[in-house]
Amino acid sequence: MKILDVYKSKENAIVQVNGWIRFNRVSKNVGFIELFDGSNLNGIQLVYKKSQIEIYEKLSQVTLFSALQIKGKVIADKKNGREVLVESVIFCNEPASDFPLGKKEHGLEFLRQQAHLRVKTKLFQAVMTIRSTLSLSIHDFFAQKSFHYLNSPIITKNDAEGAGESFFVKTIKNKNFWSSPASLSVSGQLHAEAYAQAFTNVYTFAPTFRAENSNTTRHASEFWMIEPEVAFADYNDLMDLGQELIKFVIKKVLLKHEIELKFLANFSKVDLLTDLETIVNNDYEKISYKKAIKILQNAIIDGVNFEQNKIEFGIDFGIEHEKYLASVYAKKPIFIYDYPLEIKSFYMYQNDDQETVRGFDLLVPRIGELIGGSQRENSYEKLIQAMKIKKIKSPDLDWYLELRKNGFAPSSGFGLGLERLVMLVTGMENIRDVLPFPRTPGDLNF
Ligand code: 4AD
Ligand code: MG
Repeated sequence: MKILDVYKSKENAIVQVNGWIRFNRVSKNVGFIELFDGSNLNGIQLVYKKSQIEIYEKLSQVTLFSALQIKGKVIADKKNGREVLVESVIFCNEPASDFPLGKKEHGLEFLRQQAHLRVKTKLFQAVMTIRSTLSLSIHDFFAQKSFHYLNSPIITKNDAEGAGESFFVKTIKNKNFWSSPASLSVSGQLHAEAYAQAFTNVYTFAPTFRAENSNTTRHASEFWMIEPEVAFADYNDLMDLGQELIKFVIKKVLLKHEIELKFLANFSKVDLLTDLETIVNNDYEKISYKKAIKILQNAIIDGVNFEQNKIEFGIDFGIEHEKYLASVYAKKPIFIYDYPLEIKSFYMYQNDDQETVRGFDLLVPRIGELIGGSQRENSYEKLIQAMKIKKIKSPDLDWYLELRKNGFAPSSGFGLGLERLVMLVTGMENIRDVLPFPRTPGDLNF
């Protein structure tokens, strides 16, 4: 029986529970074990008494993080509701003497070196439980809206973003396996666009790979991206969809994981519950890139000092600017739209002003960019032109361009980085601590 279900069991019921030992406190006549199996954060308290001398002698010696399987009787407990009085030990296996996790709290840096074991700690149980709920809720959200779930390919011929950040895929003998060089997908967008032209609203939810050498706390070489793509929709519709999606999944976490959130708030010193309530209960700010530039310029006049203090049309926002706009200016998530053509990808819809495109980002407090999206350019000629300027080879993308000639409906979409969402919800500050086995520059140890 999963530990969570023990709490729903009747008094005196005989149950078998399996798990690992988090605490073991022994006194003269009685001992207490906290056992966890991942089904709840706090596990369950097992009680063993000296009157059962064999069990007492065995369990009082047993070390932390042992795997344990017992049979026992459910008893009522004032504080926790239920505990289990051990009646027999079915299985017990202790970790080796050099097992690295102990009773005391370990630093995050140390735990990163133990990625295969750190999930046994309460902290990582809380983070990964929320990650799992967020992922499942994302699928729920799109299912209830009748989106088509598309599995876009991982091996591709193109660098969708045109940013030159892809990894090559070759055989172990360093040969090209296909007729042209292949790379790991940096985005499922281009393939999602093709599917949106047949299923109207689709989404992908897949691993994404980027060889960005930026060794930051919010970039990973392998991360998960959720990419909805909707035909007959403009970028305003997609901003609304993004807001609805984020509210939906965070509400689920608030409902389901109060205990985890309180634990994480205490760990991170972030007032998570208030933060998340703000995100769930408010409409997000929407401003143009030009307005954002003005706000940042005014901030400087008011005495704010950015490392990149030259704020003018054409700059790409750094994390400091993103955080200012979300945390200080809006104090809630904020959409920025109509970015300069020059700093955005070739596929974005070009506005009549000749200098901006219908791209948008969603910036959130603490994290910065969480979503990047756009309305797609539907003119074949304008796309070719943009690709020329950005030096993107067109033969690789002929199929994509052809969509425009074959009954193309206006289309818009976005990409949401799952890890950044998990960081927002859990208060964790480093992307390495929200990925089960993180891949970041220089780090491929597991
Ligand atoms: O803004 P990006 O690059 O947008 C795209 O890839 C579009 N093709 C999406 C679309 O329109 N369908 O990436 C989208 C999001 C970012 O906002 C960020 O949350 C996340 O993906 N992201 C990363 N997360 C972790 N590590 C990285 N290296 C990331 N790069 C982007
Ligand atoms: Mg982006």
